[in-house]
Amino acid sequence: MPAIEIRPEVYWIGVNDRTTDLFEGVWPITQEGVSYNSYLINDEKKVIIDLTKAGKTDEFFSYIEEITSLEEIDYVVLNHLEPDHTGILRTLRRVAPQATILSTPKAKEMIKSFYGLTENIKSVEDGEILSLGKKKLQFFYAPFLHWPETMVTYETSQRILFSCDAFGGYGALRGAIFDDEYKDLSFYLKESLRYYVNIVAKYTRPVLKAIEKLSGIPIEVIAPSHGLVWRKDPGFIVNLYQKWSQYATGNTEPGITLIYSSMYGNTEKMMNAVAEGISSTGIPLEIFDASRTHVSYILPSLWTKAGVMIGSPTYESKLFPPVAQVLEMAALKNIMNKKAAFFGSYGWAGGALKHFQKIAENIKWEVFDSLSFSGRPNAEELKKGKELGIKFAKAVLG
Ligand SMILES: Cc1cc2nc3c(=O)[nH]c(=O)nc-3n(C[C@H](O)[C@H](O)[C@H](O)COP(=O)(O)O)c2cc1C
Ligand SMILES: [Fe+2]
Ligand SMILES: [Fe+2]
Repeated sequence: MPAIEIRPEVYWIGVNDRTTDLFEGVWPITQEGVSYNSYLINDEKKVIIDLTKAGKTDEFFSYIEEITSLEEIDYVVLNHLEPDHTGILRTLRRVAPQATILSTPKAKEMIKSFYGLTENIKSVEDGEILSLGKKKLQFFYAPFLHWPETMVTYETSQRILFSCDAFGGYGALRGAIFDDEYKDLSFYLKESLRYYVNIVAKYTRPVLKAIEKLSGIPIEVIAPSHGLVWRKDPGFIVNLYQKWSQYATGNTEPGITLIYSSMYGNTEKMMNAVAEGISSTGIPLEIFDASRTHVSYILPSLWTKAGVMIGSPTYESKLFPPVAQVLEMAALKNIMNKKAAFFGSYGWAGGALKHFQKIAENIKWEVFDSLSFSGRPNAEELKKGKELGIKFAKAVLG
């Protein structure tokens, strides 16, 4: 995709990535892709806002050259130092050494440690305004959105917020960059939530703080560094982020995420009975086999729903590893304050339940009830499983 003018003399010069399998080396994007959106302002002073990951350097430079030459760039604004937005920095410095890098003081330190660059870097103050000629940029520190050095950049004449990771999402762009160019936004909304929970959710408080900090500023376009540019209704994605952030404090949707694994089908058999009980109450239920589903796809359900049902056999006196891995990631991402229940098969002495209870205590999941059984569940136990499902669903519906 060539450079696209998003407002007079403000261009999108992003790179679509459809060949990276794992974002940050862990989150699958093989099918979905991702975009690294970068922006160019062509005023008396010429500015690039955020860069791109190392790799498609030539493509990226050619987008810049559709508008201006590399030697004419005056500033490079780095809102955030993560290499998905800065990977080409050293190459850019070689071809455009005259361009002054603008960042927060913290980012300035990180530019040295990540890229060994110390010259021609200027740190900006929180709220500082930079005149480009006809246009002006204003910088607002936004720590932990997504790293401690992060800021956002606001263009005052067109009222564009360059928000970097905030309000972004997975999903390569399909030949159009604006929200209003897609009749059906469901793919991007789903991928925005997955991105939010995978990447941003840990920093829920900073997200709400930043939204509060920017609430007095009129915004007509939100231009994040991943995914769609929001010009039809920028408030839409802000409200969504606000809603998703509030899930952290317990305003979750009535619904249950059932995460299970099974080596030989015993726990799976019980899973079907428990699911039958849950579904008989009408509460929304999502089921994930932790051995077969990457945690990236499980986390959005876990984040948004009030209840969690865990099904795990005992394995070396502990939870089955794929289930334990999901719980570890949930703990890492601060997915707390859930109502939970447990079921699982064991062979001789068990141990999975105890392991689960220990993890649940750490992440403040209230364990409502549990059902452990030896080997293959019998009819009596399956009946108990269905009852567990019903009782738990009713407790979640509250
Ligand atoms: C590698 C392996 C390790 C196991 N470790 C334990 C254990 O430490 N304690 C126990 O009670 N059962 C243990 N079991 C037995 C399983 O928990 C039991 O077979 C259970 O029924 C498996 O349920 P599933 O069919 O849902 O996988 C182990 C099984 C395997 C294959
Ligand atoms: Fe980031
Ligand atoms: Fe990013």
